[in-house]
This record gives sequence, C-alpha cells and structure tokens, in this order.
Amino acid sequence: MLDAMNIATESRLAGLKLKMETREARIGIIGMGYVGLPLALLFSGERFRVTGFDVAADKVEALNAGGSYIVRILPAEILEAQKAGFRATADYREIEQMDAVIICVPTPLNEYHEPDLSYVTGTVRSIAPHLHEDQLIILESTTYPGTTEEVVVPLLEAGNPLGLKISRALGQPGVHVAFSPEREDPGNDTVARHDIPKVVGGCGPEASELAAALYGSIFRRVVPVSSPSVAEMTKLLENIYRCVNIALVNELKQLCMKMGIDIHEVIDAAKTKPFGFQAFYPGPGLGGHCIPIDPFYLSWKAQQFDFRTRFIELAGEVNTAMPYFVIDQVANALNEQCKSIKGSKVLVLGLAYKRDIDDLRESPSLTVIELLRDKGALVAYNDPFFPRVGHGRHYDLNMTNTPLDNLGQYDAVVIVTDHTAYDYQAIVEQSQLVVDTRNATKGIKSPKIVHC
Ligand SMILES: NC(=O)c1ccc[n+]([C@@H]2O[C@H](COP(=O)([O-])OP(=O)(O)OC[C@H]3O[C@@H](n4cnc5c(N)ncnc54)[C@H](O)[C@@H]3O)[C@@H](O)[C@H]2O)c1
Repeated sequence: MLDAMNIATESRLAGLKLKMETREARIGIIGMGYVGLPLALLFSGERFRVTGFDVAADKVEALNAGGSYIVRILPAEILEAQKAGFRATADYREIEQMDAVIICVPTPLNEYHEPDLSYVTGTVRSIAPHLHEDQLIILESTTYPGTTEEVVVPLLEAGNPLGLKISRALGQPGVHVAFSPEREDPGNDTVARHDIPKVVGGCGPEASELAAALYGSIFRRVVPVSSPSVAEMTKLLENIYRCVNIALVNELKQLCMKMGIDIHEVIDAAKTKPFGFQAFYPGPGLGGHCIPIDPFYLSWKAQQFDFRTRFIELAGEVNTAMPYFVIDQVANALNEQCKSIKGSKVLVLGLAYKRDIDDLRESPSLTVIELLRDKGALVAYNDPFFPRVGHGRHYDLNMTNTPLDNLGQYDAVVIVTDHTAYDYQAIVEQSQLVVDTRNATKGIKSPKIVHC
C-alpha cells in the first residue's frame, strides 16, 4: 500500500518536473517591476510560456504593445519574449492556468518604519481563489523570516474555495509553497543573471524539489535550504551585511576627512588583501528598494523575540545621517567663498540612487534636494534618466531636468550620483565649485573640488 503511494507520488512529481524540463509548464509572475519583468524575460528566454500579472494597467498595456518602461530593458526583448508566448494581464482568473506562480511585489516600510506587507497579502488574497492542486507558489519579495509560513500559507489556505491545503510531507496532496529571494543588482553587468545562484526553501520536500527544478531550468546553480525562513533570513543577512559595511565606511570617511586622509585611497589599498576584506564605498546615503528598507524588516520581527538588532539600528542611524552630512559640507564649501546656502544656486547631479540606473526609490539625492531647498537654496538637477521628477511617498519635488550647459551660473555643483555619462573633467572646468560625494572626480586635480 505504502509502496503504491510512493510510486504515485513519485510519478506525479516526475510529471510536474518533466513539464518544467520540456518547457510545457506555464509560469505566472506577479509584479512586473524591476524584479518581476527581468525574471519573466529570463523564463521566456528559456522558451517557457510566461504570463505577467500586474495591477498597473499602464504597465500591462505597455508590455502587450511590445514596449518597456525600464530603461535597461529594451522593447526588442519584450517582442522576443512575446514570440515565446509572453503576455501581461491584470486578470487574476488566469492564475488557474498557471503551473507555477512567482510573487515579486513591493515590500516597503510604512510611515512608522514597520514592514508594509499589504502588497504581498493583497496578491495572495487575489490568487487564493484560483489555486489548483499541485500548483507551485513562490514568494520572491524580500521580507522577514516567517512571512511565507505565517502570512502567505494561512491566506492561501483560507482563501481557496476548494479547501486546498499546503503540501508539507512527501505524498501529501495540495499546493506547494516556497520562498526564494531575488538577488538582482540593477546596473551590475559583471555577473550574468543565470550565474547568480538561486536560494530556495520550500514548506515541504515536494515544494523544495519542484522549486529547485523550476529555477534549475534558468539558473546554473540552485541552493536548497531547509525552510522558507532560512531562505528569507539569507536575503536579509546579505542586505544587512551591505548596510552595516556601508555605514562603517561612511563613518570612517568622516573621521578620515578630519584626519586629512583620503578614505578612497585607504579602501583601494585595503582591497589588495587577497582574503578577509571586501571593499565597500562611502557615499551620500543609502538608496533603492532594498538596503535602506530590508534590514528594518528584521529589526521589527526581532521585537517579537524581545531582541534588539543593534547593528541594524546603528547602521541605519549612520546611513540616514549622510545626506545631512553632505549639506554641512556644501554649507562649509560655500562659506569658504563667503556665501551661504540661502540664495545660492545649486545644481544636483544625479537623481538615481546609484550609477547608470533609472530608479530613484529612496535615493539620497531626493533628501539632499529637499534639505537644500529647506535652507533656501535655488536648486536644479540633472539626470539623463529622469526628464522630470514629481512626487513620491517621501518627496514632493516637481522639477524638470536641467541641461548641463552654463555650469558657471551655479554657486555649487553637487555630485550625488556618479553616472558614467558625465564628463567630470568638463564639469569641474566649467563649475565654480564641485562637491563630490562619490569620488567621481578621482584623479582630477582642482582647488574647486571638495570631496565629502
Ligand atoms: N529592485 C531590486 O533591485 C530588488 C532586488 C532584490 C529584491 N527586491 C525585492 O523584490 C520585490 C519587488 O521589488 P521591485 O523592485 O521589482 O518592485 P517594483 O515596484 O519595481 O515592482 C513591483 C510591481 O508589482 C506591482 N504590484 C503591486 N501590487 C500588486 C498586486 N497586488 N498584484 C499585481 N501586481 C502588483 C506594481 O504595480 C509593480 O509593477 C521587493 O520585495 C523588493 O524588496 C528588489
């Protein structure tokens, strides 16, 4: 009897895996943003038929028209994916037709700096009524350990009319659920996406096996871990590691400045050590959807265990203070020229949170501009990726891009994002004063440059 059950389970699993190997498995990806859209293209590139789900009608429309709204993704790539069957929809009823569903929706912080899981819970509630047995549901959104088990699974089980349960043991029928963190690094082309190992933790052995098989079809290496919580924590460790190390160099930069030492020269020397050191670079503060946010998912969860994550809090404190430090340096530099911030014309170079990308979420540039304006500066910006900037959850700027001519009219030019398209030599030559927060003017000798 037991043997018969094992054989049935094995053949059911083998059937699903075969569907993945033969690319017959239908893949649904929810959230066609910076993470979900590239992932959809990766699966399409491997000849899977992918459906992209998004609540934003303009994104669905753009994708179905063969267009792209992310600079580094060309419309030609969307058209190519369409040949493999890619299309977008806002209709959750199509979830029924999917063999695997991957959730890539935002996980921001709310106004009290606590996890805002409303996008995840909203998505899970929308897919629950359309589940079918043996479907594989994977959460990729970055979140605190426990989210998959404590939030996703109960909502899936409560919300489906068939009364389906999550499969937790070999041979147990039901829906398969796993967590697999995204390791996208926008703008970094040094590692091909399929060469980035994919960590996977399933709620049961079948979920782990199926998720590993699915990702194994597009990633060269899959790293299975024992549970979704381990996979969730892995992503947070990676991001907290970055956050803490960036805070460390940001703090050391400030000390080095007082000591007359160039922190960048120090880092360049330290990174010649072939072991035990990884270089991180100081800057004007953290940006993006990950590093400034994700660590606080863990500190929030830690409270449930009566535990204080002091490294995270200290790193947050240091990194959050960096835009204020930049403003102090601009004020000091103007002061040297007998000017005040109030009434000065200041050009901020770069809005994106990092070099060569079209993403300004949590960008320190936004804070720098707001702080300069608060102090009475007349602020303009230039960023080739943003013709205009309106308002977001944490800013209200309403500005348009200023061309890079007549730089001499500005009392100060502040380099906040070191886009490679900028000609830094020319910028220094034409400006009265350059405050460089990124070491973008490295190698250029001029008394007009203030490094900070
Ligand atoms: N951007 C990155 O570099 C990066 C890297 C690693 C991990 N992550 C994580 O991946 C997740 C997604 O980030 P992102 O940068 O792609 O976000 P994003 O804002 O670019 O994209 C999210 C998309 O989800 C859509 N959406 C929101 N609610 C929805 C719903 N209920 N149903 C369908 N679609 C919905 C939005 O319209 C948007 O298009 C986050 O948890 C983030 O922390 C992001």
